[in-house]
Amino acid sequence: MTKKFPNNFLWGGATAANQVEGAWNIDGRGPATSDTARAVNPEDRKTMGEEFIKPMTLERLKAALDDKEGLYPKRWGSDFYHRYKEDIALMAEMGFKTYRLSISWSRIFPNGDETEPNEAGLAFYDAVFDELNKYGIEPLVTLSHYEFPIYLVTEYGGWKNRKVIDFFVHYAKTVFNRYKGKVKYWLTFNEINILGITGYLSGGLLFEDGKLNLQEMYQAAHHQFVASSLVTKLAHELDPENKVGMMLARMETYPATCHPDDMMQAIHKDHENLFFSDVQVRGKYPSYMNRFFKENNITLEVAEGDLDILEKHTVDFMSFSYYMTSVIRSPKNQTDEQKLAGNLILGEANPYLEASDWGWQIDPVGLRVTLNKLYDRYQIPLFIVENGLGALDKLEEDGSVHDQYRIDYLEKHIQEMYEAIEDGVVLMGYTMWGCIDLISASTSEMSKRYGFVYVDADDQGRGSFDRIRKDSFYWYKEVIASQAANILK
Ligand code: BG6
Repeated sequence: MTKKFPNNFLWGGATAANQVEGAWNIDGRGPATSDTARAVNPEDRKTMGEEFIKPMTLERLKAALDDKEGLYPKRWGSDFYHRYKEDIALMAEMGFKTYRLSISWSRIFPNGDETEPNEAGLAFYDAVFDELNKYGIEPLVTLSHYEFPIYLVTEYGGWKNRKVIDFFVHYAKTVFNRYKGKVKYWLTFNEINILGITGYLSGGLLFEDGKLNLQEMYQAAHHQFVASSLVTKLAHELDPENKVGMMLARMETYPATCHPDDMMQAIHKDHENLFFSDVQVRGKYPSYMNRFFKENNITLEVAEGDLDILEKHTVDFMSFSYYMTSVIRSPKNQTDEQKLAGNLILGEANPYLEASDWGWQIDPVGLRVTLNKLYDRYQIPLFIVENGLGALDKLEEDGSVHDQYRIDYLEKHIQEMYEAIEDGVVLMGYTMWGCIDLISASTSEMSKRYGFVYVDADDQGRGSFDRIRKDSFYWYKEVIASQAANILK
């Protein structure tokens, strides 16, 4: 019997407005947090960009907005705003069944708190969805992906303010109504669990003392949970066809040894990660967080009715990004050197794995592990909405890009996905991250490319922005056409 993926499997690719659209101040779009993200120095690549990781202050935010000369690559992205027709035609050529994209909130409500939307912003996404529908490509739309209207930061203090829930629900209602019949798959918050890192970008949180304030971060997360549930309720009421998912940055963490303390440390790490999906899928705050909140002096303000809303309006499916795995060791078992290294985001090196140029440890089997684990835990359909390899691609003189390393990476991950489906996991689809080259979220550079399609632009935004098919473009086309039968032995 030929091995292949199910016929209804949703193959495709993913992008986010803030990294691909550009046109940051065109047609009435208001400024968003992503517009203040400066590109990282190439020598500092493994440390991630300042604006991505470092808590933002009001002073730095204002300076960035006033800075018209600096290097803020997300302001120009890949110019999808003007080239979406060409990009969607390329997706159709590859045979995409779905395309994950996000809506820029400040394109629809430039400040975030208006009553009336910006018609030009709504019209842009209408045109994009019409173009997708023309080719039979199902849109999968994220409402909030690493950007947030700046006005809601300076005037309201971001997601730590409960009022933002109402603004978000109003924004969601506006787009649900407008795109009814054109979009049925929705995600609320991208990688909701890494608010600790993207507190400013996606949560609009400022920390004047330069440190992350856990109380504010978890309060903001609570508001996002409630907003997400309210929006899920609304989506179902407005159109029974709508399906809403949550989105987790999944990082499988292995214990460094079989020492029980290392195992316990890995469980703690898992709790940190799965807390967010536990709330959004199971509809309840998990009991293990009580201890964490107590030990960290966190007291959440939970309004009457909040817990009921969380319980009643859980998500229809769970989506997640998967790039790498990490290794953890109990502090009791760490050498001094390891304790120091423990401060690095990517953690300890796994001797069995290779890493990308950015230090992300490549682990295809880890994807099967995680699919099994998540499905065992939640028993709802899963969707891999991000996976891929950020690499330095070379455009040859004859206009080709030979990215065999990307093909190898994707092929191994897809093979493990197949194994997981055979294990019994219900997997809805797979959208490869950054199908058209775009600006990196963490380092705000163009050089870290993921795409099947090369965009002729450099880190400074110089270039023709022409689209060029890489070798992986033709490879993915074959994978989709054969339901991956060509790579499953
Ligand atoms: C995910 C984000 O964290 O990873 C994307 O949802 C991001 O926005 C992707 O682009 C890859 O990360 P990076 O930093 O390589 O762009």
